[in-house]
Amino acid sequence: MARRAVAPAIALARGRALHPPDVGFVDLHSHVLFGLDDGSRDLATSRAMIAALGAVGFTEIYATPHQKAGQFMPTRASIDDAFAAVSAIVAPGVQLRLAAENMWDDVFHERLQAGGIPSYDDSDAFLVEIRPHELPVGMVDQLFRLRMKGKCPVLAHPERYEKLWHDDGLIERLRAQCAFVCDLGAIAGYHGKQQQKMARRLVEDGLAAAVASDAHTVEDVRTAAEGIAWIEKRLGKAGVTRLLDDGPRCVLLGELPE
Ligand SMILES: [Fe+2]
Repeated sequence: MARRAVAPAIALARGRALHPPDVGFVDLHSHVLFGLDDGSRDLATSRAMIAALGAVGFTEIYATPHQKAGQFMPTRASIDDAFAAVSAIVAPGVQLRLAAENMWDDVFHERLQAGGIPSYDDSDAFLVEIRPHELPVGMVDQLFRLRMKGKCPVLAHPERYEKLWHDDGLIERLRAQCAFVCDLGAIAGYHGKQQQKMARRLVEDGLAAAVASDAHTVEDVRTAAEGIAWIEKRLGKAGVTRLLDDGPRCVLLGELPE
């Protein structure tokens, strides 16, 4: 893989210096496509978000528009149109790719039955979220069955789910069946105290497979850079590489971390 230096990276990280990474980061979760959900609102914003992510060190950015029944359900045609428009203005050195953030809802389950979950590059790895306050009935068992079918479920922002906050057994059972991808903004403290504590713990204890921007705005990219700065301070460059390069690449291959 081509490696590139991203020297000025963390000007965004409020004066905290990161050592320039010599790898390209992979962002498994972002809302950089405009006009589809609560993310980017127009092409200029998409351009600015992607430029900012590139400046932080991301070289592969997955756009993951929401697929959430009753709230955000952009059609495949509208997603493809936005993807084409944004791809045309992506700066050299950055690759824009497509996936989706699937809510664990009726539509998700209908698509599972039909074999058509929107996934990373149409692979077996797909991003899924649940509602913050409750764990869906039978979720761990369903995830296990998906694993048995060769799927790789990727759980968005596990730090957000209250049932995990005080249940280490549940964390272990879930983590055995899916890859945890924490939000960098949560690590930096912008999503709440408990969410920050949980995200930091998952990262420090090696329970998170990766971290991602989950950027909806340009401002979110700045907070993501703060999250990366914290990871480097606590876990060094090796931790940054594990969570932003090697980890996400393993996930994309359908592998869960040890
Ligand atoms: Fe998201």
